[in-house]
Amino acid sequence: MSASLSRPRVGVWLIGARGSVATTVVTGCAAVTAGLHPPTGMVTETPAFTDSGLPALSDLVFGGHDTLDCPLPKRAETLTAGGVLPPGVATAVSAELAIADREIRPGGPTPGDTRSEAELITAFADDLRDFVRRHALERAVVVNVASTEPASQGPGAPLPASALYALAALRAGCPYINFTPSEGMHHPVAAREAGHSGLPYAGRDGKTGQTLLRAVLGPMFAQRALRVRAWSGTNLLGGGDGAALADPAAAAAKNAGKERVLADTLGTVPEGEVHIDDVPALGDWKTAWDHIAFDGFLGTRMILQTTWQGCDSALAAPLVLDLARLTARAHEAGLSGPLGALGFYFKDPVGEGPAGLSEQYEELVRFGQRLGRAGGEGGRGARSVRDTGERETRKRETGERETGGVL
Ligand SMILES: NC(=O)c1ccc[n+]([C@@H]2O[C@H](COP(=O)([O-])OP(=O)(O)OC[C@H]3O[C@@H](n4cnc5c(N)ncnc54)[C@H](O)[C@@H]3O)[C@@H](O)[C@H]2O)c1
Repeated sequence: MSASLSRPRVGVWLIGARGSVATTVVTGCAAVTAGLHPPTGMVTETPAFTDSGLPALSDLVFGGHDTLDCPLPKRAETLTAGGVLPPGVATAVSAELAIADREIRPGGPTPGDTRSEAELITAFADDLRDFVRRHALERAVVVNVASTEPASQGPGAPLPASALYALAALRAGCPYINFTPSEGMHHPVAAREAGHSGLPYAGRDGKTGQTLLRAVLGPMFAQRALRVRAWSGTNLLGGGDGAALADPAAAAAKNAGKERVLADTLGTVPEGEVHIDDVPALGDWKTAWDHIAFDGFLGTRMILQTTWQGCDSALAAPLVLDLARLTARAHEAGLSGPLGALGFYFKDPVGEGPAGLSEQYEELVRFGQRLGRAGGEGGRGARSVRDTGERETRKRETGERETGGVL
């Protein structure tokens, strides 16, 4: 992205940088910055966040890791052919795509990778530090948008790649966001490190379609005192995500988040399951069908059915941009620990916070206001990735404590 030299620039380091979501993030940010499209779907571009001190879209610099080597402009071409990106946009921002492409480093572990876990973490952290240094960035936020991993094998099993990247982010002093259902910072080894890293983190699994609706409809049934008897769902999707979720272990990780929303909003887990079917012909277009059986007055039986037909990456990309800006600002303001106020964006949020979408939105707006009060660029609480180490030493000496919930 081109950016002014006078303003501090912020890195967005995408794990899974050549995937559909990542490619849509880079393309979309460049297109909105160039005024080719309005920022539809970006909550941080609404008036409620004008005074939050967020980094401008034009100040974001992209890079990342991926295990594939398909060039980003080529990936954008494929997404255009699939109707995910509107015609002409990828060509209009081809320079920005090429710049971001040059900042993508080989990820891991790849098949036959002989590097140890410690070596992989070191290599990933070195890539991040190098990115921050070469671009003279104030800070870089790591966002996991890589393929969903199967749920962890339990104690003693090798660390999943998402945990290696999360540990690398901590090692490099970078805030972290997990947009996927993979473990990442939830892995006990990473969670332990995160606890004394002094860094903010958020996740997990973006709430973009079926679960977004569930977070609205669950509270409706509860508030109207209607008894939900069963809530069943089916998803049909293709693309890389569809292929990854064809693995029952990966789908189980995804479905746990979808079910948590119902448990948290209804107070009980109703009968019913969620299924995810890989339909390659659909590409990035997802159809999610929910069937809700509920009882009304005197036990009268009723049914609500919803059909959501969304373009997954177009739903996810604006949220990733919002999250990167909010988390970068939280880091600048000196916050650390789980950012519960970002629960609005996630199926399985970290930290404390309400479960209904409306309350989550109110909490997000309050968070934005608090970020605004924390001082502007270089304000009182401001810090950069470069002084994280010094700050941590001071915190250990003085016992000072900050959390994602307090400013
Ligand atoms: N699109 C949505 O609405 C949405 C919502 C919530 C969560 N997500 C999650 O976002 C993630 C990305 O979705 P997508 O549609 O872009 O998938 P995708 O398959 O298009 O992209 C995933 C990318 O991750 C890369 N990758 C795999 N293993 C890696 C590793 N070890 N290191 C680095 N890169 C690796 C792949 O090569 C690929 O380029 C998925 O986990 C998905 O579940 C998407």
